[in-house]
Amino acid sequence: MEKKIILITGATDGIGKITATTLAKQGHTMIIHGRNRSKAATVCEQIKADTGNKNVNYVLADLLSMADIKRMVADLKTKYDRLDILINNAGAFFNKQREITRDGFEKTIALNLFAPFLLMQSLVDLLSKSTSARIINMYSAMHKRGGKPDFNDFQLEKSYKPDRAYGLSKLYLVWMTRHLASELKRNGINNITVNGTHPGAVATNFGQDSDKGFFINMIFKIALNFMDKPEAGAVSSIYLATSQEVEGISGQFYSNKAEVEKPDDKYWSVENEQRVWNYLQKTLKAYL
Ligand SMILES: NC(=O)c1ccc[n+]([C@@H]2O[C@H](COP(=O)([O-])OP(=O)(O)OC[C@H]3O[C@@H](n4cnc5c(N)ncnc54)[C@H](OP(=O)(O)O)[C@@H]3O)[C@@H](O)[C@H]2O)c1
Repeated sequence: MEKKIILITGATDGIGKITATTLAKQGHTMIIHGRNRSKAATVCEQIKADTGNKNVNYVLADLLSMADIKRMVADLKTKYDRLDILINNAGAFFNKQREITRDGFEKTIALNLFAPFLLMQSLVDLLSKSTSARIINMYSAMHKRGGKPDFNDFQLEKSYKPDRAYGLSKLYLVWMTRHLASELKRNGINNITVNGTHPGAVATNFGQDSDKGFFINMIFKIALNFMDKPEAGAVSSIYLATSQEVEGISGQFYSNKAEVEKPDDKYWSVENEQRVWNYLQKTLKAYL
């Protein structure tokens, strides 16, 4: 495969770190995204040493801050004249109490949905410079578990629960991915595809630090013993980033075994997908 320039968010730990290391081993130019300078620098050096690939660098942003994302995008545009692959991997499951970011957004929605949306929109021009660019979004099987969407309560002020926030953030990410795939086609941008995958249940730091209440905290800890290794969670992202089989395919949902799967479409409709898209455009307009 031709060598690519690949940006992966949340590459300092868990599934993202494994994905980045594997892609670096294949000889691609890797841009590791992290939020902590010293952790990102250490991971970068570790990947270089483990793979022998010197083209591994990092960029920094707290993805809970839309201004910080904007600054990172500007930084990327000064350093790179094209981007071939964007993997929106970073994500988290937050506390039992609803929390908001400095921008005033509910944290789960901000990190799992707003950050990938903003990155995709802001990096389209850099991706357009690639002969064949791919965006890969990290879903979750929990997209089925958010309950019924309430478009009058998008920020979950009335109905916050951590599992609802997480489930809905991933459900909307699935819808947003599909919508972007058709938007790109409609606008004649044929060199960028966008797909997503869920990694399965994988033993990482995911959900380990947040306080979800005694019972759910315990379930998360016990579940670690039965989960797959992070390597298993990285299979599908690596496949979507590198396989010739997915060339030209866009708007699809892939399983952790890298097979096309049907997401839970119980609450999906053309109108609902458009509602989410419009909400994202309107809410994040100031940061685009
Ligand atoms: N593990 C699972 O079972 C599972 C299941 C379904 C879906 N997923 C999804 O898979 C993806 C990767 O999760 P993982 O299991 O690898 O989790 P993880 O081990 O917790 O790693 C998450 C990564 O995201 C980064 N991150 C978190 N918050 C951030 C922020 N505010 N700004 C910038 N970076 C941030 C972390 O940075 P630090 O290194 O600085 O902490 C880390 O690199 C997520 O989208 C998650 O929703 C995971």
